[in-house]
Amino acid sequence: MCGIIGYIGNREAQPLLIEGLKKLEYRGYDSAGIGVIPTGKQHIAVQKTEGKIIDLISVLEKHPLASGCIGLSHTRWATHGVPNHRNAHPHFDCSKKFLIVHNGIIENYEALKAKLVAQKHVFRSDTDTEVIAHLIEDCYSGDLLEAVRKAVKLLRGAFALGVISSYQPDQIIAVRTGSPLIIGVGQHENFIASDVPAVLDSTNRVIYLEDGHMARLTRDRVEVFSFEGERVSPAVHKVAFNIEAVQKQGYAHFMLKEIHEQPDVIERMLKFRLKGMAVGLDGLTILPEHFKRVKHIYIVACGTAYHAGLVGRYWIEALTTIPVTVDMASEFRYRNPIIDKNTLVIAISQSGETADTLAAVKEARARGAKLISICNVVGSSLARESDGVLYTHAGPEIGVASTKAYVAQICMLYLLGLKLSQSFKKISTKQRQQYIKELKRVPGLYRDILHRKKVIHRIARKNSHFGCFLFLGRNINFPSALEGALKLKEISYIPAEGYPAGEMKHGPIALIDEYRAVICVAPQTSLYEKMISNIQEIRARKGKVIAIATEGDLSIKKHAHDVITVPPLEENLTPLLVALPLQLLAYYIAVHLGCNVDQPRNLAKSVTVE
Ligand code: AGP
Repeated sequence: MCGIIGYIGNREAQPLLIEGLKKLEYRGYDSAGIGVIPTGKQHIAVQKTEGKIIDLISVLEKHPLASGCIGLSHTRWATHGVPNHRNAHPHFDCSKKFLIVHNGIIENYEALKAKLVAQKHVFRSDTDTEVIAHLIEDCYSGDLLEAVRKAVKLLRGAFALGVISSYQPDQIIAVRTGSPLIIGVGQHENFIASDVPAVLDSTNRVIYLEDGHMARLTRDRVEVFSFEGERVSPAVHKVAFNIEAVQKQGYAHFMLKEIHEQPDVIERMLKFRLKGMAVGLDGLTILPEHFKRVKHIYIVACGTAYHAGLVGRYWIEALTTIPVTVDMASEFRYRNPIIDKNTLVIAISQSGETADTLAAVKEARARGAKLISICNVVGSSLARESDGVLYTHAGPEIGVASTKAYVAQICMLYLLGLKLSQSFKKISTKQRQQYIKELKRVPGLYRDILHRKKVIHRIARKNSHFGCFLFLGRNINFPSALEGALKLKEISYIPAEGYPAGEMKHGPIALIDEYRAVICVAPQTSLYEKMISNIQEIRARKGKVIAIATEGDLSIKKHAHDVITVPPLEENLTPLLVALPLQLLAYYIAVHLGCNVDQPRNLAKSVTVE
């Protein structure tokens, strides 16, 4: 996944492009570049570098670009071609009259490149992207939009493009298929960008470019067309969040800010979607009574979203009679799943742009499944693909490690289960009331835990020397163990594995010795005694146990080295609660180890490539 931004208007392009690019750095940060058409000149000035945007800024300080009011810039997460100067975007054609930035993958670039090389095109990089610049050069006969349209028809894969040319320095051409691209509509200026935060300093009016659409931007006009050349009139949306929403607001990291936003995120969701006992899910286009015809639910997702789906399975099967299968999207799409018109697929994705999840839902749709998605990014590719969308409205999540989006996904699944329970009568009205009452307590309980975060910080520091962590949980908190392990490994790079506690004796117990830490998710539930037995087995083998337990549980203190407590809560809702201490544990360990918490190595916020 990469970050793209383009500008055309009356202001100096370079500072606007760099400031906008900084808001996109979470999308990739292994190399960066910028290109501007100097005012009144017939050439395009480009600077690029390996490394982060801060490195590009250093290059520009030594070698500033000439003044100009139209340009493109890009921050990269390498797919084809190692991260270095020559593979950094933007990329030229042979004549250096066309400049392009790209997010996505061109699947047929090798065949296209071979043809272009045979036609004597000279390539400067190993990227798939550069092929597009040479194709545009070949297709150009005086109309940049037409040249890009012809070139795009030759491409296979997912791409969001920004194109400028010194032949026509009064326009930017934008293209979207399979990778996100928005248009920021300003006053006598317009932007293209991979995500909304990049343009919020200048405008909150955006067009979410559709897949298979392209646009021509001048300083005073935005025209949108289909790839077939038909003019379309897309809506201009007013973005609900402001630039502050994407700033750190005094927190050391976006991840810490987003952890602290969780009480408000859940509170807002419950206020918006719970009216007394009634659950309002506006994006649920399948009526609850039609759910009776649903014979199977597949939940498909990746990473943290997959863990949310695992929690959802326990919950939906507890409240309905529908069997639920949860699949990693990258596996689902290749395992030939049994799907028919009575199958419902629930896709979960914070970004709505994860390539494997998109591919999985396309597969499911092709086989006749109905599709509902739980998404955080309005207008994302997944949202457009779905019959119904349940937006979590958690606000932009910038930290690569997903936190508020995760708890919002779980909460949305709880609400979906409660909504469906009305059609299946597996729980009494009294029980539904109790669940809703307990759910409404969560934001306050989060705030209690956050008030005591110093305890978690101390325990994290004390245990940050361990070279390996095992996370154990049972039943609805087995996914909590998986999620805790993922949080820790992805930001601290410490090997960490989540496991069902009942499985420990079938292998992982061999890992236990005084050099390993075991995080046991052991709140007061019907399986608490089983967890205590596991903890005793670990202690008997000198393992170091950190327990997540319920406040007031004095017995667990006898067994665990360290105890992090959470307030008492309805058993089935505890995954929502234990997520917070697990996130903070991972965060404080990673910070203590000096890791780059918001931009962990090798990762990107949304994996838009397979
Ligand atoms: C979570 O902390 C990771 N960054 C990653 O596993 C993420 O959840 C996964 O890539 C799915 O992303 P999505 O929710 O945007 O589809």
